[in-house]
Amino acid sequence: MSEGQVKCLGTVAVAVVVCVGAYIYGSYASLEPREIGILYNSIDKTVENTTYTGGAHFVGPFSSFINFPGGYETVEFSSAANAENDPISVRTSDGNSIEISVSFQYAIIREKLSYLYSKFNKNYLSVFVDMARDSLLKTAAMYSANEFWGIREKISIEMLKNLNSSLYEASASVVNFQFLKVDISSDYEKKIVETQVEKQLSNTEVYKNEAALIRQSIEILSSECNQNITSINAEAEAESYYIVQVAEGAAKKRMIDVEAEIYKLTIQELQFKTKEMNEYIFLRSIENQPNATYVVGMTDAVIQIKT
Ligand SMILES: *[C@@H]1O[C@H](CO)[C@@H](O)[C@H](O)[C@H]1NC(C)=O
Ligand SMILES: *[C@@H]1O[C@H](CO)[C@@H](O)[C@H](O)[C@H]1NC(C)=O
Ligand SMILES: *[C@@H]1O[C@H](CO)[C@@H](O)[C@H](O)[C@H]1NC(C)=O
Ligand SMILES: *[C@@H]1O[C@H](CO)[C@@H](O)[C@H](O)[C@H]1NC(C)=O
Repeated sequence: MSEGQVKCLGTVAVAVVVCVGAYIYGSYASLEPREIGILYNSIDKTVENTTYTGGAHFVGPFSSFINFPGGYETVEFSSAANAENDPISVRTSDGNSIEISVSFQYAIIREKLSYLYSKFNKNYLSVFVDMARDSLLKTAAMYSANEFWGIREKISIEMLKNLNSSLYEASASVVNFQFLKVDISSDYEKKIVETQVEKQLSNTEVYKNEAALIRQSIEILSSECNQNITSINAEAEAESYYIVQVAEGAAKKRMIDVEAEIYKLTIQELQFKTKEMNEYIFLRSIENQPNATYVVGMTDAVIQIKT
């Protein structure tokens, strides 16, 4: 071989190595760890019905991945700065309008990825959001405004169930649902306030009547008490008069008894006869008169008293 031939062969060999390298390099495609993807063939413009997960894959020179999120994604309806969708105004079963802020987490169902792509291309998210809004409106309409405060937990469960079954049609599964906020419309708020005020007014009326009744019964009781006081006082007076009378009588009787005893003793001690005893009593009684004067030895005398 001439030097020229060797050079040429060398060049061809390098070209072949470079081409094979480029072919092998171009036949690899990769997905991020949290991504899933399907293969798109740029020659026949078809999509393969196989879902790939994160990593590098040997796919051939004319295929590339169309990638999708492989984990859970959040959709939020709220007025928060990071929320892509506004809160949802819903009409409740009793005709009130309330505004709910909610969020939910979904994941694309891997086995249905090519179906999702064939139906919605890569615009699946706006489809999910529309479907979710529709489902939330329908579910909300089954409950009254009051129930959004009373049984919110139950409504959450129902909303999750309905979101899941409606997004399942579009190749996503919904795994979680959160109520962020429930706002009442100003009309409904006014109605609630009015109802409360009415309730309070009727309560006030009831209490007023009760108070009047209680006042009346207090009056009756107090007049009954006053009557009882009067009658107790009268009874007590009568009883005390009786007790005093009985005590005085007993005292007098004791006095008389004592006097009688003393007279008896006097008769015994002084050996008095009845006449002498009478004289003795007479003299003692005169002695008891402060201004009396007894004149001895002047029987049947006439006494003149100067006045
Ligand atoms: C794609 O694969 C899934 C299961 O892996 C199957 O249910 C579905 O019918 C397939 N779709 C097509 C268009 O072949
Ligand atoms: C969502 O729907 C699928 C299919 O109907 C079901 O298998 C899954 O359990 C549901 N998940 C929830 C959280 O309801
Ligand atoms: C008044 O006296 C009557 C008879 O003793 C009694 O039954 C009633 O309870 C009394 N009333 C009060 C208020 O004490
Ligand atoms: C006794 O006499 C005095 C003065 O002489 C007189 O003030 C008094 O009232 C008299 N008492 C009686 C019980 O008569």
